[in-house]
Amino acid sequence: MPVKLLTFVKQADHSSAQRFAQGSRSLLHFTYDKAKSQHPMKTPKRLAGLVAEGLVDEVVGQLMSGKEATVYVVRCGEHICCAKVYKEASQRSFRNNASYQEGRKVKNSRQARAMEKGSRYGRKMQEEVWQSAEVDALYRLSAAGVRVPQPHLCFDGVLLMDLVLDADGHAAPRLNDVELSEELALEYHAMLVNQVVRMLCAGVIHGDLSEYNILVGASGPVIIDLPQAIDAAGNSNAAAMLERDVSNLRAYFSSFAPALQGTQFGKEIWRLYEKGLLHPEQALTGQVALDDRLADVDAVLQQVERAIRENEIRRMCM
Ligand SMILES: Nc1ncnc2c1ncn2[C@@H]1O[C@H](COP(=O)(O)OP(=O)(O)OP(=O)(O)O)[C@@H](O)[C@H]1O
Ligand SMILES: [Mg+2]
Repeated sequence: MPVKLLTFVKQADHSSAQRFAQGSRSLLHFTYDKAKSQHPMKTPKRLAGLVAEGLVDEVVGQLMSGKEATVYVVRCGEHICCAKVYKEASQRSFRNNASYQEGRKVKNSRQARAMEKGSRYGRKMQEEVWQSAEVDALYRLSAAGVRVPQPHLCFDGVLLMDLVLDADGHAAPRLNDVELSEELALEYHAMLVNQVVRMLCAGVIHGDLSEYNILVGASGPVIIDLPQAIDAAGNSNAAAMLERDVSNLRAYFSSFAPALQGTQFGKEIWRLYEKGLLHPEQALTGQVALDDRLADVDAVLQQVERAIRENEIRRMCM
């Protein structure tokens, strides 16, 4: 990794950074040659700041334009990276909504008030919080050993991270775009459920995990696209979001491996998490015991009657 990038890798897990860098260096020339066309690409406006600062040396090409961002392949010294340029708030879709924001930390209460009011300063703050959420989640997750691209920095609304490569040194395809055997589907599903466990142990829920946000890299699936990542402890929708992420995995992989259809990994993971028993190497069964205790209906009715009586007494005293 070039020195100028290393200086930006705050709190990075250097062993995983090195692993990624070594893995991609041998493929560097192949990828670079394939990606580079005869004519050098004009620097897109949103990347001009990074080029001017010397953080990016060359824009090799555009990789993708998604709902939330445009993604470029760039060269930083000897290293080929991925630059994700976030779109303006007005062009973004559902993921900016309040259920994802709950529990996110802002620097101080004045900023929180400005964000609530929606003033110009508040909107600017909201943009900064949104843009830094993905790089923060990537740092936290790569340090926890989760299979995500190693982040390098977030500057001027651009996230610079490792480019995930397939075995041939091309940008890795999305999981949705590859054909799977039943055996490989079971293997990837197990790997990804374990990644969900590791993320939750690090306090993070992806919030939009699906076959579209998983790349199939040279050594297996890599999870991307985390600006909406959820703080597991501070968000009241956490259990539902985790369940949805895990159900998406089940729905996708069960079309290749029908045995996954009845599994309940989401519920199992959440129960262990709530009891404080979840750990990164957790062995799971995919089954949860149903709560078959009979409800004590009489006790519930007594409580309701007591509440009604108390309410009547309060009204009489007013
Ligand atoms: N680190 C990476 N390495 C290789 N390819 C990447 C990387 N990050 C993103 N991509 C490519 O860019 C695409 C869009 O990235 P991402 O999902 O993060 O943005 P998005 O705007 O949310 O896109 P979408 O609307 O398609 O979900 C990905 O599907 C993938 O093909
Ligand atoms: Mg995406």
